[in-house]
Amino acid sequence: ALAVVTPKDLLGRRIVVTAGGTREPLDPVRYIGNRSSGKQGLAIAVGAAARGATVTLVGANLEVHAAASDDLHVVHVSTTLELEAAVTAAAAEADVVVMAAAVADYRPESVAPAKIKKDVQGDTLQLTLVKNPDILAGLAGARRDGQVIVGFAAETVDDREQLLALGRAKIARKGADYLVLNRVGWTEGFATESNSIIVVNSAGDIVSEASGTKTSVAARILDLLT
Ligand code: CTP
Ligand code: CA
Repeated sequence: ALAVVTPKDLLGRRIVVTAGGTREPLDPVRYIGNRSSGKQGLAIAVGAAARGATVTLVGANLEVHAAASDDLHVVHVSTTLELEAAVTAAAAEADVVVMAAAVADYRPESVAPAKIKKDVQGDTLQLTLVKNPDILAGLAGARRDGQVIVGFAAETVDDREQLLALGRAKIARKGADYLVLNRVGWTEGFATESNSIIVVNSAGDIVSEASGTKTSVAARILDLLT
C-alpha cells in the first residue's frame, strides 16, 4: 500500500502566522472591517504544524475554525492594536513571522461609548480615522539575526506586470524578506477555496508561483522556509 508521508522539514522551527482581518470598532455594536476569511493564513499555520514546526496562529476574527493542538497555539484578537501586541510578543521567540492577516490601515480616532443614534446624527455621519501602525514594517525593523519575515499583498490590479511592480515597491518599503502577492477583487481571493500567488524576495526577484487550493498554495509558501 502507498502511504503519503508529510516530510517533517520544518521540525524545530518556531513560526508565527497572522490570519483573518482586523476590525476597528465605531461603537459597541459596529466596526470597520474587511473581507478576509483567514483561510489562507490558517492553511499556512496548519501546514507548518504538520511539517513539524511549532506554530502560533494569531487569528483576527477568523471565519474558519482553528483547531489548536500541541504544535498549533491559537491567540484570538480583533483590532489592529491587539494584533500588533500579540504578534510582536510572539515574534520575540520566533524564527519566522508570516503576516497573512488583512490589517485595517485606519481606525476611528475615537470610539463612541454608546450606540451612535440617527436622531442625534441627522442625515450625514462623518468619521475621522487615524492611521494604524505598520506592523509588518515594525517586525522587519526589529528582526533578529536569521529571522525571516514574510508579508502578503492583496492588490486589485488585472495585469501581472502591474502586480509585480506594486509588490516590488511594497517589499522595499516594508523591509520584509518575502512578499506573497495575489490579486483580489469583488469575487477573487476572499473566502474562496483557491488562490493564485507570486512570491517576490527583497531583491524583487520572483522566487515562487503557485495556483490551486489554499492548502497547496500554503505548502509552496512553506517550501521557501525549509
Ligand atoms: N500590514 C501591517 N500593518 C498594517 C498594514 C498592513 O502589518 N498597518 C501588513 C499586512 O499584513 C501584509 C502587508 O503589510 O502582510 C501588506 O499589506 P497591504 O495592505 O498590502 O499594504 P499597505 O502597506 O497597507 O499598503 P496599501 O494597503 O495602501 O496597498
Ligand atoms: Ca493596507
